[in-house]
Amino acid sequence: MIRISVIGAGTMGNGIAHVFAQNGFKVNLIDVSQPQLNKALDTITKNLDRQLSKAAITEEVKGSTLKNIQLLTSMDAGVQESELVIEAATENTDLKLAIFKQIDEKAPVSCILATNTSSISITKIAAATKRPEMVIGMHFMNPVPVMKLVEIINGYATKKEVTDKIVALSKQLGKVPCVVNDYPGFIANRILMPMINEAIYSLYEGVAGVEEIDTVMKLGMAHPMGPLQLADFVGLDVCLSILNVLHDGFGNPKYAPCPLLVNMVMAGKLGIKSSEGFYTYTAGSKELVVSERFL
Ligand code: CAA
Repeated sequence: MIRISVIGAGTMGNGIAHVFAQNGFKVNLIDVSQPQLNKALDTITKNLDRQLSKAAITEEVKGSTLKNIQLLTSMDAGVQESELVIEAATENTDLKLAIFKQIDEKAPVSCILATNTSSISITKIAAATKRPEMVIGMHFMNPVPVMKLVEIINGYATKKEVTDKIVALSKQLGKVPCVVNDYPGFIANRILMPMINEAIYSLYEGVAGVEEIDTVMKLGMAHPMGPLQLADFVGLDVCLSILNVLHDGFGNPKYAPCPLLVNMVMAGKLGIKSSEGFYTYTAGSKELVVSERFL
């Protein structure tokens, strides 16, 4: 079984480590912060307990999943024997370019370098390495243990053998891979973010309230979450940054972020992670409460 390294122990990194480890892979979970690594292992344990309580996994699977995960703070040590590295660090271009330059120097020459970026160009990331043909996008969706899709993004130089390997690997995780090409927003966010932006514009222009917009999309289109709730879930700063990538990348005004979204991000109202966005969030409560600002 091949050894995987996951760089970054945030929401996406811990989810990616979780699904690989649960499917029998040895995983090195790497982060510069030991407290962040401990928090990630805690989250994985809680999510395994949730799966256990629903009888989706057995006690043995929980035990073997946790045993398959090794926590490391050194990136150099963590990638040196890997056959696949998946980077899931903060969505910041300069940081990702620096990480790829470093892992390119330390990982075996046969190692595939994947990124979980939701919007940064795979071709640009690949150009920071000496093996652009071995670099690919592997975009998991949140929450990773639940969502079936892996959006696989071919950079300009990605080799077919690399794509085939990542497709096969995604299937081994019980996921459904979808291969797309490297243009701004790929497919998932090129379609999702304009929908979220349009929902925010509808609120901004007073066409309807938060609850009405989300209910129309939940009950009318069978979406599990309405677009405003989903924006809170993804993070309003993340939505804004992806819209800016689309706007800059295509130069088309249809992608211009709604001024309300820009204002909310400037005000620090980022959704679930800041306890307030279109809704307000209280720890331990699942009730959806529209933010006072929008009543
Ligand atoms: N780990 C393991 N299992 C989890 C989990 C986690 N982190 N989170 C939820 N689950 C499981 C629950 O145990 C539950 O399992 P059963 O169906 O077996 O009972 C199931 O998932 C549903 O969870 P809940 O009952 O707690 O809550 P819910 O029914 O409201 O579902 C949700 C929660 C799965 C998040 C659902 O609301 C949903 O699908 N929302 C849309 C999510 C989405 O669109 N994600 C993509 C975001 S975009 C992105 O990620 C890409 C980007 O680049 C921006």
